[in-house]
Amino acid sequence: METREIQSQGQAWKNRLDALKDLPALWRLLWDAAPLPVFSTITLRIASGLIPLGMLFAAKQIVDLISTVASGKQIDQQTLWYWVALEFGLAASTQIIGRLIDFCDSLISDRFSHSLSLRIMRHAMSLDLRSFEDAAFYDRLDRARVQATDRISMLTNAGWLLQRVVMLVSLAGGIVYYSPWLLIVLTLSVLPAFLVESHFAFLGYTLSHTLTPLRRALAYYMTLGSSRESVKEVKIFALQKHLEGKFQDLAEEVIRRNRQLARRRLGWGSLFAVLASAGYYGSYAFLAHEAVMQKMTLGTFAFMVGAIGGANGHLQIIFSLFSDIADQALFLRDLVLFLEEHPTIHSPVTPISMPKPIRQGLEFENVTFQYPGSDRKVLDGLNFKILPGQRIALVGANGEGKTTMVKLIARLYDPTEGRILLDGRDIRDYDIDEYRREIGIIFQDFIRYDLPVRENIGAGNIGKMQDDEALNEASQKSNLSSILKRLPKGLDQMLGRRFEGGVDLSGGEWQRVALARAYLKDAQILILDEPTAALDPMAEAEVFEQFAELTKDRMALFISHRFSTVRMADRIVVMSEGKILEDGTHDQLLKADGVYTKLFDLQAASYR
Ligand SMILES: Nc1ncnc2c1ncn2[C@@H]1O[C@H](COP(=O)(O)OP(=O)(O)OP(=O)(O)O)[C@@H](O)[C@H]1O
Ligand SMILES: [Mg+2]
Repeated sequence: METREIQSQGQAWKNRLDALKDLPALWRLLWDAAPLPVFSTITLRIASGLIPLGMLFAAKQIVDLISTVASGKQIDQQTLWYWVALEFGLAASTQIIGRLIDFCDSLISDRFSHSLSLRIMRHAMSLDLRSFEDAAFYDRLDRARVQATDRISMLTNAGWLLQRVVMLVSLAGGIVYYSPWLLIVLTLSVLPAFLVESHFAFLGYTLSHTLTPLRRALAYYMTLGSSRESVKEVKIFALQKHLEGKFQDLAEEVIRRNRQLARRRLGWGSLFAVLASAGYYGSYAFLAHEAVMQKMTLGTFAFMVGAIGGANGHLQIIFSLFSDIADQALFLRDLVLFLEEHPTIHSPVTPISMPKPIRQGLEFENVTFQYPGSDRKVLDGLNFKILPGQRIALVGANGEGKTTMVKLIARLYDPTEGRILLDGRDIRDYDIDEYRREIGIIFQDFIRYDLPVRENIGAGNIGKMQDDEALNEASQKSNLSSILKRLPKGLDQMLGRRFEGGVDLSGGEWQRVALARAYLKDAQILILDEPTAALDPMAEAEVFEQFAELTKDRMALFISHRFSTVRMADRIVVMSEGKILEDGTHDQLLKADGVYTKLFDLQAASYR
């Protein structure tokens, strides 16, 4: 950590200035989100920035008029009241403008955070599965997500910066008019404090960046310790103390690192803040001396004191706002990098149209596949074909690559080598959405949506979500009907425990919901990855009979470890070491007396 900090110190300024390049991108997001409020807040801030100069000037006039009276001369009283009224008018408009600015800013922040969240969500959904299986990507996504709410303070800061710059420039005009070098002294005395502050702000960013994985781990332990999904195991395995301990260790580490930095910031920051006030009070003393020597009127003295006080304050604030913005801009890098990440799996420029119906089937041609970052060939020169109308059972031990084959068919990944052909053409030649429309898949780890039954089934085919007849038919096919009848609100019954009134289902019942989803899709290729693992034997037999019936003129692939189901398939394919080991009907494979026979006998024996 120490060496890393030292390295980043040298790079600090370059990085920070580089990061400002990302500001236009943010500006565009902001303008798109809320053009009118953004325009209004800018105008109001400029107006409000000019008011202090006007007020100081009016005050100078008032003091000068009063000191004229004090020295025994006559004045026009009406002029005095005129200046007082102006002073009041300006003070009142500051109040009103300030509130209008707050109003615009709250509109902007709402709109901005929603439009940015939407953009992040939309972009995340467009990315490849492989991105989501990569921890570095997750850190980036996490940081990008935080942008949606955290970057708002940066935007407000940018508004303040504008306002303070207008104030400073107008006051500086007044100061320069009397003594240019006073402005130089003030600037020089504030500058070191600015450099120190921004240096520490940068270290703060670096630290927060390095702590992202730690914070993610913290959040994960927190979830494990406080969610419905984990509560059963936490109790049974008595994980409370362990989880607590892990959480505390991580939290201590985060606190320790933050405290270290905060301490150093406190020491150096205080030192240079004192220097900055010395510059201000030096100038003050000079002005007092000039006034005593009668080189300026009392009104001018009041004006100058107000102007240098204001300028000094504004300078400090401008520097610290600028430094905040530069540091926050560093976080934008994560957002920009995230938005720049593009999916590698997409449709070709000129896709060919999908065959309806499929005539030659789906074929794996010497397909080899390795997961990114792994050198193990999960599939190794695999050849395999499904013909239209065939129902194939795929068997193989855990980790042999069955689910991986399904992911390749779905184009969630593309093969490392070799091709997958549909009717003789590489599946990469088809439009990806059109292609996916023709395959219905229920994954091993299918989603249990904490949403009504209607949406749970309807997810398979959004267009039919309101079509009760279609939904009921799909439920019939997947043996869900009897369960549906039991649910008080039928299709509109909320499922899961996340939302009020939700009803939880058993593992097998959820599986039937997932099956209904697949049936609703009405695709030409149906793939079920262990769809019946959680079903009781009777339900399984029923589901399978239905399945065989329903997929008569389509292609179906199902993966199962239960040989009672497997034996009913038209063809059984046994996978081992990335290749197809055996291929044939139940009777053919038994005759061949190979791996299948061994596995089948093993299961059959345990039932005797
Ligand atoms: N995202 C991934 N990144 C790296 N390796 C992976 C990934 N997903 C799976 N693997 C590895 O690929 C191999 C094949 O996994 P796959 O899920 O295809 O097995 P499977 O045959 O479906 O097993 P099971 O019967 O347990 O479902 C496994 O060894 C697994 O560790
Ligand atoms: Mg699997």
